[in-house]
Amino acid sequence: MKPVNIGLLGLGTVGQGVANILIRNANEIKRRTGRDIRVTRAAVRNQEKAEALNLGIDITTDSQSLVTDPDIDIICEAMGGDEPALTLLHTALDNNKHIITANKALIAVHGNSLIDKARDHGVSVAFESSVAGGIPIIKALREGLAANKIEWLAGIINGTGNFILSEMAEKGRSFEDVLAEAQALGYAEADPTFDVEGIDAAHKLTIMASVAFGIPLSFNGVYTEGISKISREDVEFAAELGYCIKHLGVARRREDGVELRVHPTLIPEKRLLANVNGVMNAVVVQGDAVGPTLYYGPGAGSEPTGSSLVADIIDVVRGIDANMLHRVPTLGFQPDSIEPLNILKAADYQAAFYLRLQALDKPGVMATVTGIFGELGISIEAILQKEPDEAAIDPAMCTVPIILLTGSVKEGLIDQAIERVQALETVVEPVTRIRVETL
Ligand code: HSE
Repeated sequence: MKPVNIGLLGLGTVGQGVANILIRNANEIKRRTGRDIRVTRAAVRNQEKAEALNLGIDITTDSQSLVTDPDIDIICEAMGGDEPALTLLHTALDNNKHIITANKALIAVHGNSLIDKARDHGVSVAFESSVAGGIPIIKALREGLAANKIEWLAGIINGTGNFILSEMAEKGRSFEDVLAEAQALGYAEADPTFDVEGIDAAHKLTIMASVAFGIPLSFNGVYTEGISKISREDVEFAAELGYCIKHLGVARRREDGVELRVHPTLIPEKRLLANVNGVMNAVVVQGDAVGPTLYYGPGAGSEPTGSSLVADIIDVVRGIDANMLHRVPTLGFQPDSIEPLNILKAADYQAAFYLRLQALDKPGVMATVTGIFGELGISIEAILQKEPDEAAIDPAMCTVPIILLTGSVKEGLIDQAIERVQALETVVEPVTRIRVETL
């Protein structure tokens, strides 16, 4: 059979992983596909640097010539960012090429139009490598769990954020110190606010939710909170209460719509997810037939991400001679069955909360605070009050941290309670609020 020619956009961390895997495992891959797969050309910014890799690939800086090259069957995008990646992929589709991308921002924000255009041209769009690095979570949701109505999924889907929280918890290191190390190790996004403010996780959650529920990609509906406000004290107090703080992406189907949210979360320390550390990712998926299932693996890195991208190449190659009707639909549901669901507002979410307030150490403060919760009908499951700091100069101004764990409650109600607590003269700092999930 005629070999399949690949054009690579980008030869950075992921691009090199793809090229190395295709070269090293060429025989094994041919046994799976029945065809030779060759990376014939790569478009890069720095020609000299790419040529020095000696991969036997024709290198160009003219990316436009790659996506219009009649000899190329599949374009793999591993350059990242919005533009020129988006325009190049549209041009590739206009030229009837299959496209495969590791670019989660692009799929989460612009995926609907790419998928529509691909269908019109009878070609594929694939993006396994855009979510959770080497974990085949898209395939699991779209194919392995296809019998199920997916009820919810929750995942640690940003390796950098998880690495930061793990190091803070295990070694007491500061946030800034660990972020610098994550950048040096090549885990962090070009703009690290994407990692620490939860945007990267929101991109990945958007993609998983679409494939899980058969809804259009809805990035703008994701509630997003990062980890930059989590202090070492919160990590320690949570541990005293038997919890671990993890940055989770959660997608939950409810009667009245769907919750799409990314935020720091207290989870019981015995849960498997609580023990996912460093740059590893993990996703729990709850299906109505199968129950809970767990997917775990490296969430970033050259060959782990390359492993997912090459798996997409193999899928596309296997389907090249099949017509559209016999291919697995891109989002797992037939295109005319993709239905928007009501994406719920944060005030309508239901969750338990960890609240930390810093209050003056005076008689009656605790009673006033708990009174507010009582009046609003919010149950308190646990309270932790620490000793005052003996070094305080003026004992009348001495403050103590008070930690409350609430029962499950509508977020709008917690907002009211926090507003009233913060208005007390005896509460001296903004209240820290972290959601609790028992999963
Ligand atoms: N910056 C991402 C992470 C890379 O830390 O998970 C993989 O998408």
